Amino acid sequence: MSSLFRRKPIAVEHGDGPVLARTLSWPHLVALGVGAIVGTGILTLIGVGADRAGPAVMLSFVIAGAICACAALAYAEMSTMIPASGSAYTYSYVVLGEVIAWVIGWSLILEYSLVVSTVAVGWSGYASALLTPLGFPVALTNGPELGGIVNLPAVFIIAVVAGLLCLGTRESATLNAMLVAVKLVALIVFVAVALPHFDAANLHPFMPHGFSASVDVDGKERGVMAAAAIIFFAFYGFDAISTAAEETKNPGRDLSIGIIGSMFGCIVIYVGVAVAAVGALSYTRFAGSPEPLALILRDIGRPGFATFLAASAVIALPTVLLGFLFGQSRIFFVMARDGLLPGALAKVSRRGAPVRITLITAGLVAVIAGVMPIDAIAALANAGTLAAFVAVCVCMMVMRRRAPDAHRTFRAPLANVVGTLGVLGCVYLFFSLPFKTQEYFFLWNVAGLVLYFVWGRKRAVVA
Ligand code: ALA
Repeated sequence: MSSLFRRKPIAVEHGDGPVLARTLSWPHLVALGVGAIVGTGILTLIGVGADRAGPAVMLSFVIAGAICACAALAYAEMSTMIPASGSAYTYSYVVLGEVIAWVIGWSLILEYSLVVSTVAVGWSGYASALLTPLGFPVALTNGPELGGIVNLPAVFIIAVVAGLLCLGTRESATLNAMLVAVKLVALIVFVAVALPHFDAANLHPFMPHGFSASVDVDGKERGVMAAAAIIFFAFYGFDAISTAAEETKNPGRDLSIGIIGSMFGCIVIYVGVAVAAVGALSYTRFAGSPEPLALILRDIGRPGFATFLAASAVIALPTVLLGFLFGQSRIFFVMARDGLLPGALAKVSRRGAPVRITLITAGLVAVIAGVMPIDAIAALANAGTLAAFVAVCVCMMVMRRRAPDAHRTFRAPLANVVGTLGVLGCVYLFFSLPFKTQEYFFLWNVAGLVLYFVWGRKRAVVA
């Protein structure tokens, strides 16, 4: 029984295992974080959120942002205390024990893999709007649930990004920063163009579906919290920075600047976008649209800016795919290094790319992206992420008690308050997710635990 909860030492050693080159500093990490955070969530899910909450989707943004800010502070503390590429999985292994670490690592697979599927579907929404006027068949831009055959643009972009990663081609820091700048300029332009059209009449009724999540007559979850549970998707990605811990020059300082800088910057921009969007147009017009921000710009008579926004999304969204596919490979790499997954999965090519696992992951996420609707996949990715965020907040609070004097380059202010709010907020968001999502999440973890007991447990190498 005790072996279930065996723990790794704080100073995680990698024995004679492969060592990653330390090439990144904090500006790269801030760019990496913003690159992974700003994506489908803000560009597409704002339409899903408006459908669930009405104009009060603004409130959903504030709630999801505040919960993520608590988690970001916990990540900043834990990642500088235990700078290893396994992120929440490794912190749980050090603090809470092996079986919990397994559940968190298994949940991170949901987060990272499904984010790739969701962002690919979101990308497809914008790409299709540019492609269909050129004669591209509509049936090949949606999965069966939305009346199409397959979402081919989503499958295509995953193949392109996976191909780049397999070639060992990483976004250079400069290219990543340039694409991040494109995304930020597009959002700032949106706020600047939409805000002057703010009309308070568009905010009435403010909260048509109430505050807490409940099932509406059409069978959909609605309410401010139901929207917050899906909008939450827009805010994470800062955690992907922590998977680059073993490649950071000065992890103690750079990780905390990267995580907190990218998170708080994005909160400010997102709240601005949400206010501008619901103020400029009645939410009923863009609720559920696959490209809501562009639709708003067209509707207020600015089609040129709409095309600019759509083009920026098509050019810059793939950085999210790169970041999360990259992060997924690091987490598999660390789990395999720990013996919990087959070592062959983490095989690295001669050029240093984890080709095998990248291709397996890409194949899986491409199938999901090709046939499933965006809100169902995003909800499941959120469930996995929420589990990881709860674990990191708990790890921070446990370590403050267990090792109060251990070295921490960054200390979260009011750690117990921040940690408790983070845990409670994430649990509330989890139970605001659709019931089916909660069921799938538990089934996924039951399958994971079966795998752990029949395979991983005996082979674990606690360093
Ligand atoms: N936050 C990322 C996005 O919105 C996952 O695409």
